[in-house]
Amino acid sequence: MSVGIGVIGVGRIGSMHAELLARRTPGATVTRIYDAFEEQAHAVARPLGVPTTNSVEALLAAPDVDAVAICTSTDTHADLIVAAAEAGKAIFCEKPVSLELAEVDRALAAVEAAGVPFQIGFNRRFDPGHAAVAAADVGEPHLVRITSRDPAPPPLAYVRVSGGIFLDMTIHDFDMARFVAKSEVVDVFARGSVRIDEGFSEAGDVDTAVVMLEHENGCFTTIDNSRQAVYGYDQRVEVFGAKGMAASENPLANATIVRTAEGMRAATLPYFFLDRYVPSYLNEWQAFVSAVATGTEPVVGKHDARAPLVIGLAAWQSLREGQPCSLR
Ligand SMILES: NC(=O)c1ccc[n+]([C@@H]2O[C@H](COP(=O)([O-])OP(=O)(O)OC[C@H]3O[C@@H](n4cnc5c(N)ncnc54)[C@H](O)[C@@H]3O)[C@@H](O)[C@H]2O)c1
Repeated sequence: MSVGIGVIGVGRIGSMHAELLARRTPGATVTRIYDAFEEQAHAVARPLGVPTTNSVEALLAAPDVDAVAICTSTDTHADLIVAAAEAGKAIFCEKPVSLELAEVDRALAAVEAAGVPFQIGFNRRFDPGHAAVAAADVGEPHLVRITSRDPAPPPLAYVRVSGGIFLDMTIHDFDMARFVAKSEVVDVFARGSVRIDEGFSEAGDVDTAVVMLEHENGCFTTIDNSRQAVYGYDQRVEVFGAKGMAASENPLANATIVRTAEGMRAATLPYFFLDRYVPSYLNEWQAFVSAVATGTEPVVGKHDARAPLVIGLAAWQSLREGQPCSLR
């Protein structure tokens, strides 16, 4: 039996998800698409041969929708989760659930009350390289190092409503730190500055940051972020433990190398997440569809939706106050 999925919101990431679900995820069928911007819904649905609906309510009422993929802008996620849970649908929601903890708790309470499966879109756990780092037997983890640098800053209009670097960008790295260290975070120390575009200051944000985390098991994680790495999307994770270390390097855009008398040249990095992380998106969909089909709990669930936001809010507090913020 195929899991029928209604995709809500088909902008930048939702259009990719609709296509991956419709064409490249065995066991899934996209049965309905809805976007508040009707033309966009049609533009994505038509080539996939999927019917659109003219409201969220109509999508949730469709009998062939077993699960929803919520891929709308962040400020709409909590209400959509509540509506989908009340309709008894399994839920996949893009990260983050909300920029406000109270809203996250309201949405997750509705999921809990309805007893429906819930998966949050922390896709990087499903990246083959990062997953292999987390699975490597390096003994008790002592140190984790995460480098996460975007190729270019987003538009300032987006920055102003994004929740800032820690809730928009580093939130993926906070999830990765918990995943690789296999332990919750108890202390957060963040520093940040504006090195790329003064517009970030005007938006109350930073474009360059370092965060140190201390985990319950004693492991330390350091994360470094930049909104502009001129050489491309730089995504590396390393764990160092009692028995060794494991690291995931950046895949290159292609495997060509050029050797000359001057030295060796390799290809550039994939440009951004829609290129770099496709395997992770496919794997996260496969995990979600399997969980729904078999009635098992999704591996990245309710607690994982909440914990990185708590760390992100603590990072902002730490940056503002110039001292570590404890979550103990
Ligand atoms: N996991 C990742 O790698 C990743 C990457 C990018 C974005 N995201 C997350 O995905 C979400 C969407 O980001 P995006 O970049 O695709 O945004 P976007 O603005 O490109 O697309 C959002 C779409 O949702 C539609 N929409 C807005 N409100 C709606 C509503 N109430 N009902 C139906 N449709 C509605 C808009 O018309 C638009 O088409 C955000 O929460 C973002 O944080 C995750």
